[in-house]
Amino acid sequence: MYEIEQLQLSDEELTQSVETLLQGLTLTPEILERIQEVFVSEMDLALAMKPSSLQMENTYIPELPDGTESGTYLAMDLGGTNLRVLLMTLQQGEVTNEIVQYYPLPEHLRIGDGDALFDYLAKCIDNFAREQELQDDLMYSMGFTFSFPMRQSGLDSGVLVTWTKSFDCPSVVGQDAVLLLRKFLQKYGRNNIEITAILNDTTGTLMHGALMDPRTRIGIVLGTGSNGCYMERSSRVQHWEQQRHGERHVIVDVEWGAFGDNGVLDFIKTEYDRSVDEGSLLKNSFTFEKYIGGKYLGELCRCILQKLHESSLFLSQTSRDDFPPPWSFGSDNVCTIEHDTLRDGWEDVANIFRTKFQATNYTCDDLKIIRYVCGLISRRAAQLVALNTAVLLNRMAAEEGESITIAIDGSVYKHHPRLRQWIIDYTALWTRDKKTQYLLADDGSGKGAAIVAAIAEKLRRRNAS
Ligand code: BGC
Repeated sequence: MYEIEQLQLSDEELTQSVETLLQGLTLTPEILERIQEVFVSEMDLALAMKPSSLQMENTYIPELPDGTESGTYLAMDLGGTNLRVLLMTLQQGEVTNEIVQYYPLPEHLRIGDGDALFDYLAKCIDNFAREQELQDDLMYSMGFTFSFPMRQSGLDSGVLVTWTKSFDCPSVVGQDAVLLLRKFLQKYGRNNIEITAILNDTTGTLMHGALMDPRTRIGIVLGTGSNGCYMERSSRVQHWEQQRHGERHVIVDVEWGAFGDNGVLDFIKTEYDRSVDEGSLLKNSFTFEKYIGGKYLGELCRCILQKLHESSLFLSQTSRDDFPPPWSFGSDNVCTIEHDTLRDGWEDVANIFRTKFQATNYTCDDLKIIRYVCGLISRRAAQLVALNTAVLLNRMAAEEGESITIAIDGSVYKHHPRLRQWIIDYTALWTRDKKTQYLLADDGSGKGAAIVAAIAEKLRRRNAS
């Protein structure tokens, strides 16, 4: 397992002062065990519909693709940095053709009036339908990937619980995103598009993974935000609002980003995590996501460095005014620094000092400190993701006794140079080397939407017969 190199600065006293300020970022085995216990207990409470910071939402998807899925489906993907409309052709479970169109999603649409946002979504779909010359006399099924916590009462209904990441259109909270999108599609005369399923990006990732490897039972996204879903025994799920059809399993969306919102994780919260939360768009919410999500890792790093600077331990020749302003130090910088650490180079760190901190007068200690900070927050993020995943795996493997594949996607997982290996190693450690493997399911949120739309169609046909 990669280790974080011990911090050894030019002066022993300086090393100790820095380490003292960073102490809370190292999770001891005892703390990790406690987090695990709390996670298990929050999961059980939520499944039993008791108060919990986890949602454990029933997605109403009772089966995985079996390779018979065929047809042409539309998809809309909303939730990350991009808004996309896709047209996909599936043949025997494989995406054989894919047309993707990206649309800008400026801040005034992400934050503000919900009707304006949904009007815009429908307008993009309408624009796509025209450009791709969809036939007016054909019905197209659409899978809507809406990567936010929602209450589902069926496969095609999703009531928004709260916005997350960089979205905040308060009027949509408590409303069904499918009904809203349908309403605006009608405004554009798009009666030939039917939204047959709404899904979370983790579900899409699980579905896409399942086509590549039928042993897939867990879907994880580690990108701007983070979350996981898994196949749960349906008898353990109490929230059912529709007639059931003898399903043995159902995909449950954990919504682990909100883990700890009720205070159960306060024992790991550092003053830096508090600063990130304070400055965030949605305060006191999505506690766990703020430890691991790509939207937050850069800001977390900046807050820590600022504290070290205020304590005269870091970049002492640089003025506070030259520090990057809040939320301007992206997680890509953490990845870049980690990359330098891994190959034992300094060029990229030095470049970040010059461009982000206007600092040309830095010391070897400064270089070591920024590396150390990035290592600590990256390892903590990896441990937290691995820990949740291990809990899911232990829960499932115990009953299935089989090898389980975890489909994973998201920018942080893909671009962080050593987080991936940490996640793999810690998962193995905490599942006592049960047979498990991670599988990158690239673009699960897009491809998964088409697969879920195909499954929705299969279920409809089956229920009608
Ligand atoms: C959302 C989840 C989503 C995750 C990854 C979180 O902020 O609440 O629904 O799966 O981000 O996109």
